[in-house]
Amino acid sequence: MKNENRALLEKYGQTHLLQFYDKLEEDGKDALEKQIEELDWGLFSCLNNDNTPSGKGKIEPLGALCVDEIEKRKEEYTAAGLEAIRTGKVAALLLAGGQGTRLGYAGPKGTFNIGVNRKLYIFEQLIRNTLDVVEQAGAWVPFFIMTSEKNHEETMAFLKEHNYFGYNSEYIFFFKQSMAPSLDYDKRLLMETKDRLVFSPNGNGGWFSSFMKAGMLKKAKELGVEWLNAFAVDNVLQRIADPCFVGAVLKHGCVSGAKVVRKADPEERVGVLCLEDGKPSIIEYYEMTKEMSYAKDKNGEYLYNFGVILNYLFRMDKLEQIAEQKMPVHVVEKKISYIDPDGTAHMPAEPNGYKFETLILDMVHMMDNCLSYEVVRESEFAPVKNKEGVDSIDTARELLKANGVRL
Ligand code: UTP
Repeated sequence: MKNENRALLEKYGQTHLLQFYDKLEEDGKDALEKQIEELDWGLFSCLNNDNTPSGKGKIEPLGALCVDEIEKRKEEYTAAGLEAIRTGKVAALLLAGGQGTRLGYAGPKGTFNIGVNRKLYIFEQLIRNTLDVVEQAGAWVPFFIMTSEKNHEETMAFLKEHNYFGYNSEYIFFFKQSMAPSLDYDKRLLMETKDRLVFSPNGNGGWFSSFMKAGMLKKAKELGVEWLNAFAVDNVLQRIADPCFVGAVLKHGCVSGAKVVRKADPEERVGVLCLEDGKPSIIEYYEMTKEMSYAKDKNGEYLYNFGVILNYLFRMDKLEQIAEQKMPVHVVEKKISYIDPDGTAHMPAEPNGYKFETLILDMVHMMDNCLSYEVVRESEFAPVKNKEGVDSIDTARELLKANGVRL
């Protein structure tokens, strides 16, 4: 091994990566050296941050545009949104690069069948929801899909095999997100094979830089796109490129918008949209004090009452402006498959290490403003996160049924 690479391993306490080196073929040796050379060693400094991004500023509540108010101006908002969609200004951006480890399903999450008596794949359900808007607007909504190295081929093949569930494939664009190394609890880099480190998708905050790197920004501009509606793969009830939401953001002169739901209870584990030093920001449930969670306004309403559901609208030129800014890196605990020093593969049932992720919610704080737009939880929020219990396959099925979706 090259001296400078060996020195790096020593400096960062990673000499265990040499354990198989001498027995590797030349190709394997080269591959491993390349990974060591190209690794973002700067990430190691995040490990000392105690898992929390650098301190928050002054937090204040941010009220939402509530369901009642939206209802009153529904026609006006919807007309404005439909006009933007018709003129090609709005694109959908599906964040499907995650590994969905909590669900414990082997394939890409979107290929999961949520149906009971018939097949209904998560991707299918999301595409159907978008097709409703396509029909209403009479125009195709460009549909970008972010995958990762781990699920790219499978995602593409699945959608092709299912004929994109009726979507016009000329308007579907795939791109891959970047990867980051993973570590065990002793902060040692994990290995996937004898000549390869474990690399995991680098979080959903990396989407815009991956979007640019893959030439998608250029493509979006050619299509005349001005707004990107980024959303998670796992909320099977969400409305995508929702004309009323788009129109409301436009009418209120905002540069971004976030769909939010009223919290189920003050201590619900969701990120809350608020103001931080006068700018929009999302405060995580574990960053809220009990006092904040229960604080009320003069009308008796909770002040921090609106949780985000990972459905955001961003003005694309604003995203370009912040593209060079550094995002906080979160160190998150996950289940990570790896090989041990004997070369035996392990697929842990419990979290066993750390991944480095940037998060889309941190992008909101980089925006000048953000329209907090309330949606009815029971009609628009059915996340499939866990195998069972809260936010699980069963709870999502119940919510789909309650909304008249045949399963
Ligand atoms: P989650 O926060 O649920 O993460 O992602 P996850 O990695 O998919 O799932 P767990 O925590 O391992 O169970 C929310 C959304 O962000 C996407 C996911 O695909 C999902 O749509 N995501 C997450 C990415 O696109 N890339 C990532 O690196 C992480």
